[in-house]
Amino acid sequence: MKTWTQEERYRPLEDPEVLRPLHEATAASPYRQSYHIQPVTGLLNDPNGFVWHQGEWHLFYQWCPWGAVHGLKHWYHIVSRDLVTWENLGVCLYPDTEYDNKGAYSGSALPLGEELYLYYTGNHRDPDWKRIPYTCLADLKDKTAPVKAASPLFGPAAGYTEHQRDPKIIPHGDGYYIVLGAQNEQKQGRVLVYKAPSPTENWTFAGELKVPGYEDFGDMWECPSIERISSQDVLLFCPQHLKLPGRGDSVHHNGYILGEMDWDSLTFTPHGQFHVLDFGFDSYAAECAALPRQDADQGVIIAWMGLPDAAYPTDEEDWQGCLTLPRALTVRDRRLIQQPLTALKKLRAREIDLVGEPRSVALPGACEIELIARGGDLDLALLAREDGTEGLRIVYDDTARQLTVDRSGLAKRFNTEQGERRTRPLPKGLHHLRVYVDHSSVEIFVNDGDAVFTTRAFPTAEEHSLHLTGDAALHLWELSPAVRDDFVV
Ligand code: FRU
Repeated sequence: MKTWTQEERYRPLEDPEVLRPLHEATAASPYRQSYHIQPVTGLLNDPNGFVWHQGEWHLFYQWCPWGAVHGLKHWYHIVSRDLVTWENLGVCLYPDTEYDNKGAYSGSALPLGEELYLYYTGNHRDPDWKRIPYTCLADLKDKTAPVKAASPLFGPAAGYTEHQRDPKIIPHGDGYYIVLGAQNEQKQGRVLVYKAPSPTENWTFAGELKVPGYEDFGDMWECPSIERISSQDVLLFCPQHLKLPGRGDSVHHNGYILGEMDWDSLTFTPHGQFHVLDFGFDSYAAECAALPRQDADQGVIIAWMGLPDAAYPTDEEDWQGCLTLPRALTVRDRRLIQQPLTALKKLRAREIDLVGEPRSVALPGACEIELIARGGDLDLALLAREDGTEGLRIVYDDTARQLTVDRSGLAKRFNTEQGERRTRPLPKGLHHLRVYVDHSSVEIFVNDGDAVFTTRAFPTAEEHSLHLTGDAALHLWELSPAVRDDFVV
């Protein structure tokens, strides 16, 4: 595995053409996705600035051009009209000022008339490599030329460590709030709140968000946001360096608490416990889209299909990361429910006939599988060998009423210390699965969004079969491509 010098990781991108050979090598990988957002070269992490603006969905992602390494981060810009097909627009925010000299880190967007305001963390490092995080603003009036504000909206708050980042802008009442992920000096995760009468100036520190019962829950809360979904308040965040039952040695989680937000007292009162957003393996830094209507009953959420401090098999091909599918988000039975968007149906190119018992078929690289359970135990193997062994197994135990996703049978194993099996109880049994397979990912929607399991998967040439044991009806569609591997920087 390549070891990177600091100079290599933080090399400024002056001439995009230097990336062309890297892009060509990357584009030739068998693990390139055909309908998931992925980097033109290098590494993709968090989705940023997800918003509907002037008839289009805008989305940005954290991008390090140089390889499978967390180095100099840019905001890469993509657009879509339907959240299914996407166009690469290239870099929007370069880390090119004093305030963001070592990265334009994560943030969010606010559409206001013609303006699209981008709020992001300027990851400044001084010559001694001491980090000073700034909350910065850029105005994107058209799709190509953001204008950065001359100075940051605010710098770091006193009394907290250098870990203060990921501004989420929230219009509320007559003004605006920004919530920011932070760590206090006792190394506990916190959310800081800032407010202003205008989106562009006079920002002041309002205080720390109180979340009773969660004062000691991980040492840093990355990417926090407060959303209103199905008329309920939701606090979403990524507590770090925290172990949760059933999640192996994984210390990075993305989850949420339902509750009630009081902006006057800056208190989020939980109604229930912390839940993970995804029961699978690779999901982090989820972002809800800023929608045209404030009280939209349904949100849209997208996440990084990856984890911090993790290595993936494509690292040796010099690239890493992709985003999940955007998903419809509602609240049902005191849980967030994520469902695939109905617009995805337009990708169905052809339905593949499934006959014979036990059923087995060669899977296309990009496909959708629907399973309607008829009762009893089930074992659905995906990306298995032709004889039905190994692969990624989705196993339903009807007696225990639980579903397990096990990726230990894939030839290319990775991040094994995080556990290779994830189990979720299904007290009402298993009724339905909808599974989206792309060339290096699998997303499993259980019982109409009751639970989602997301995982990267890197099948070898021998691992392309589906095998089903158990009583269920199956449908399989090959899916058309929806992202293009154009070299746009
Ligand atoms: C989360 C994160 C953010 C940060 C960004 C940098 O994955 O660490 O907290 O802004 O990635 O790329």
